[in-house]
Amino acid sequence: MYEKKVQEVESLISHQNEWRRKCINLIASENVMSRRARSQAGSDFAHRYAEGHPGERYYRGTNFVDTIESNLKGDLKMLFECNHCEVRPISGTNANEAVFSRLINYNDVVMVNSTPGGGHISHHRQGSVGKFTKNIIDFPLTKDGYHIDVEKTKDLIHRVKPKLIVLGKSLFLFPEPIADLVEICRENNIIMLYDAAHVLGLIAGKKFQDPLREGAHLITASTHKTFFGSQRGLILSNLEDSFWRKIDRGAFPGSSSNHHLDTLAQLAICTYEMMEFGSQYAEAVIANAKALAEALDQLGFDVAAKEFGYTESHQIAVNVKKFNGGEKTSITLELNDIILNMNMLPHEALSTFNNPEGIRIGVQEMTRFGMGKEEMRRIAELIKECIVDKKKVKEEVNRFRSSFQEVKYSFDKPNIKSKTG
Ligand SMILES: Cc1ncc(COP(=O)(O)O)c(C=O)c1O
Repeated sequence: MYEKKVQEVESLISHQNEWRRKCINLIASENVMSRRARSQAGSDFAHRYAEGHPGERYYRGTNFVDTIESNLKGDLKMLFECNHCEVRPISGTNANEAVFSRLINYNDVVMVNSTPGGGHISHHRQGSVGKFTKNIIDFPLTKDGYHIDVEKTKDLIHRVKPKLIVLGKSLFLFPEPIADLVEICRENNIIMLYDAAHVLGLIAGKKFQDPLREGAHLITASTHKTFFGSQRGLILSNLEDSFWRKIDRGAFPGSSSNHHLDTLAQLAICTYEMMEFGSQYAEAVIANAKALAEALDQLGFDVAAKEFGYTESHQIAVNVKKFNGGEKTSITLELNDIILNMNMLPHEALSTFNNPEGIRIGVQEMTRFGMGKEEMRRIAELIKECIVDKKKVKEEVNRFRSSFQEVKYSFDKPNIKSKTG
């Protein structure tokens, strides 16, 4: 009776695979896994449990995953030059929750980036931080809206005495002023968390900023935005062992039980790809983001932060108010197989969240498919033809994308047809 339902799901998966290989994906929080990493989905690990740490599990049968997990932790510590690494969070939000749950007591003050300023929902009153305290205060921003105002932040810190400050955000164009805030945090016993969900791959490639060396106590991250996947979370730190034990307990048993072993094995493959190719990849991503921003600007779009060179990350922000705002623009582009998201810009009120003036663009996935600056200029033209000239560009988008099907910066062998699309 329900086999039809199964067929329906199978058919939707197959449509998704077919459709997305024809699209230009510019969602800033996504990436693609290599064929080699992807082909490991659904291994026997997908059925298994491994609570606890390698060698100290609560279940038997974990020999092989123990080796993968121990090696992965050791190699991630090497990659990020740190003493502690937690690989069990199954997402960036889950990693944040593991930290927040152990560091924030009821009524503690926490400073974060506001939502229009780019902060993530997990830093918000309605999200993870809000479960532990309602005393959430936004960093003051400079006039352009894309940088924390350091002097005003220091004044505010003296007044409100936060327990924790959370740097890092979802609309993330420029490095955060970690070094400028280290001293005041040290003097006031404030813990500095850096949420690297978006920029982990750029940090791994050593092309963005180096949060732990600059003075952050902890990094949390997703592993699938500028990092190569799989979809999971990480926590990194050089804190002393006694402090780290709290975070460890936050990850397990605090915010997870089993940690999805097949995606852990895939994360290991993706990490080794990042160790091999991360530096070249991060450099290409940032160069592509700048090239796309410049091309859009030249074609008449209102690209944010021009006076700062538009971006130093994988993202750019564009104000599309004159084209009926972010929602309409993103829908029109989607109808033409260009996929991105509407985004609030720093000057906007929270109430604009479902039709903000902005769109956010990320180039990390198209870079992974081998696109360079020339292709970025072509993407800018396609966006202009679609939004300004109101032309249908879907066919041209599909034709253009057909030459970029192989996942680069990986150990995939070229020209082997992928079964999964
Ligand atoms: C700054 C920031 N932190 C955390 C997250 C959450 O990551 P995940 O989607 O892996 O839970 C995101 C996701 O977009 C993010 O932008």
